[in-house]
Amino acid sequence: MKITVVGAGAVGATCADNIARKELCNELVILDIKEGVAEGKAMDLMQTATLLGFDTRITGSTNDYAKTAGTDVAVITSGIPRKPGMTREELIGINAGIVKSVTENILQHSPDAIIVVISNPMDTMTYLALKSSGLPKNRIIGMGGILDSSRFKYFLSTAMGCPATDLQAVVVGGHGDTTMIPLARLATYQGTPVSNYLDAETLKKVVADTMVGGATLTGLLGTSAWYAPGAAGAALVEAIVRDEKKMFPCCVFLEGEYGQNDICIGVPVVIGRSGIEKIIDYKLNEEEQAAFNKSADAVRSMNAALENL
Ligand code: 2OP
Repeated sequence: MKITVVGAGAVGATCADNIARKELCNELVILDIKEGVAEGKAMDLMQTATLLGFDTRITGSTNDYAKTAGTDVAVITSGIPRKPGMTREELIGINAGIVKSVTENILQHSPDAIIVVISNPMDTMTYLALKSSGLPKNRIIGMGGILDSSRFKYFLSTAMGCPATDLQAVVVGGHGDTTMIPLARLATYQGTPVSNYLDAETLKKVVADTMVGGATLTGLLGTSAWYAPGAAGAALVEAIVRDEKKMFPCCVFLEGEYGQNDICIGVPVVIGRSGIEKIIDYKLNEEEQAAFNKSADAVRSMNAALENL
């Protein structure tokens, strides 16, 4: 098994670190355009191998895609990150060109690769990668919902004083501060609705905190977060390479599901060795479906900006 992570920034390097620790492949390539950075991070990570006990061989490459040949799963993290006060959407102009060329380069050397997109604005970058590559829709997966759901469970666990791992909670819709939809009605504490334990006002605050979860961290850190985004990317890669058939909210191409067409947006899907294996119908209620439609409208208008680039 061979995995490539494109972009050796904080998210890419953290994702690679998690992939190595989990031994998801025997060969892991990190690629970056900045001279020496991918090689340096690969060497640094390799020097943790005996300490952490993994046998994955990690190599770095400065923009030489020939070294990625035969990749089974490629994770795209390239592009500029958010700065405080910036929305994910403001990155579109620069990141679109980068994501398009990275996708082309990866597929030129690994025509059968499954592509995981993390670059922002993630929903639009996933749509762009799909449209520009012409790949079947099961092979392009945007990572946003796994991260947002993990943040949702964190804020719920803090409000409830329970371990986050005792909670089930999912975020669907776009991966944007105003487009994501934490599904509070469906969130459970060991199978019981969280609304049994939290009043409406607290639950509303948990939802609001989740929606700006990334922006809050960008404000604190001066750049976008990396531990949770990197770990979420690796969790998605794990479900693919281990053929887990695990259900995750991911950004995928819709053809009528959830009442939407010609858009990549977050919905619950089953992930296995062929990528997206099934889209799950959560049977949203009227209010949730209205929020989903509104989110889709916002993502769609972002996608329209691609035409002017
Ligand atoms: C985040 O939400 C980077 O979009 C990513 O932190």
